[in-house]
Amino acid sequence: MTTPPSHVFHRQLRHALPVAVSGQGVTLTDAQGKTYIDASGGAAVSCLGHGHPDVVAAMHRQIDQLAYAHTSFFTTQVAEELADLLIETAPQGMSHVYFVSGGSEAVEAALKMARQYFVEIGQPQRRHFIARRQSYHGNTLGALAVGGNEWRREQFKPLLIDVTHVSPCYEYRDRRADETPEQYGQRLVHELEQAIEQLGPQNVMAFVAETVGGATAGVLTPVPGYFRGVRELCDRHGILLILDEVMCGMGRTGTLHACEQDGVVPDLLTIAKGLGGGYQPIGAVLAQGRVVEAFRQGSGLFQHGHTYLGHAVACAAALAVQRVIQRDGLLAQVRERGAQLQAALQRTFGVHPNVGDIRGRGLFWGMEFVADRDSKQWFDPALKLHTRLKAAAMREGLMVYPMGGTVDGRCGDHVLLAPPFISTPEDIEQIVQRLERALHATLAEVKAPA
Ligand SMILES: Cc1ncc(COP(=O)(O)O)c(C=O)c1O
Repeated sequence: MTTPPSHVFHRQLRHALPVAVSGQGVTLTDAQGKTYIDASGGAAVSCLGHGHPDVVAAMHRQIDQLAYAHTSFFTTQVAEELADLLIETAPQGMSHVYFVSGGSEAVEAALKMARQYFVEIGQPQRRHFIARRQSYHGNTLGALAVGGNEWRREQFKPLLIDVTHVSPCYEYRDRRADETPEQYGQRLVHELEQAIEQLGPQNVMAFVAETVGGATAGVLTPVPGYFRGVRELCDRHGILLILDEVMCGMGRTGTLHACEQDGVVPDLLTIAKGLGGGYQPIGAVLAQGRVVEAFRQGSGLFQHGHTYLGHAVACAAALAVQRVIQRDGLLAQVRERGAQLQAALQRTFGVHPNVGDIRGRGLFWGMEFVADRDSKQWFDPALKLHTRLKAAAMREGLMVYPMGGTVDGRCGDHVLLAPPFISTPEDIEQIVQRLERALHATLAEVKAPA
């Protein structure tokens, strides 16, 4: 535990944290010598686990050669190579990569890119974003404004731009019994259409969505046809589609980009976490050629920028991470281990009275907890089931990513699993066994008479 007083402004000021001292493979070790299986990759970050020798070596080489050169003076070989690789493997039509230092910065850059694009093409009246409730796009003000988690937005509302929010694609709770998944998806597309009509289609810049909803709703996978319908709608009205794959992208769902599985190509695609795998802070926006061309033909510049854009060591780390994923065929491994994880979760929790839904893709899984399976009634939020589960899992030597507010930002609890792509079959079994023990202990706590 941290020895008080700490001068770090921690996330929680009344809570002592263990001190992480080393990381190797799928585990982290604290100062007491206790090891933890990192079954959530932190927050779906550490796709290659910890201490990967190829990534560490690439970072050392880059530091020895050149750590930093400001992007208003220079480009670097390593940033160019990383951009080449990302465009080679990008969804169709993507031509350029805008590098930043994380997910929120990527979302901010995409929002501003969308706005400037419409100014460049002579449609400056377009000023509205539409996004979804229960989404998470980051904590900077623009990203928080498009995000749809009420609890996170609440106290900052006076500072946020006005964004229209429509329903998430949340099949477990929102699909009616008389609807097929496809019909449910079309209903959501229709709701989006109505929101566009209300704002006036000529005034809307972009629809922003996580392809697979991550942190705040616990891995919401889209129903078949939903994103195709969204794409058609955006095309019909000249609205940009911004897909946020900061969490679900870069292989996490078993394909490099999650949207590949939904058969759509966005205009702007944000990526981060798995891009650098936690070895360095890095994020990026991938942009369609026609968007970039509008900038080139127009003002010739994107009026944006940060000091650490395209940081050479961050690019070296990301390049190494992506090359390892390609070289070692890790996308196939994500699919294989993902199927194993799904089966183990179903076997262990499939009929559990307090597990309402198990959902996910690849190595990206969420479980939603309920007090009652039939009515889908959530646990009393005051019990803070998610906080207790996190603590119980840590006691078991397991890092998972539980969160509350699953249903509406206030009620509901889920846990998110995002193990490293290098996890072995034994690691997957261990993760599920430890999670079972942690859940058992948590439920015993919340059900115990006060
Ligand atoms: C979908 C999504 N977008 C954006 C972000 C923000 O990324 P960062 O925390 O790196 O700023 C996150 C972080 O969890 C995310 O999941």
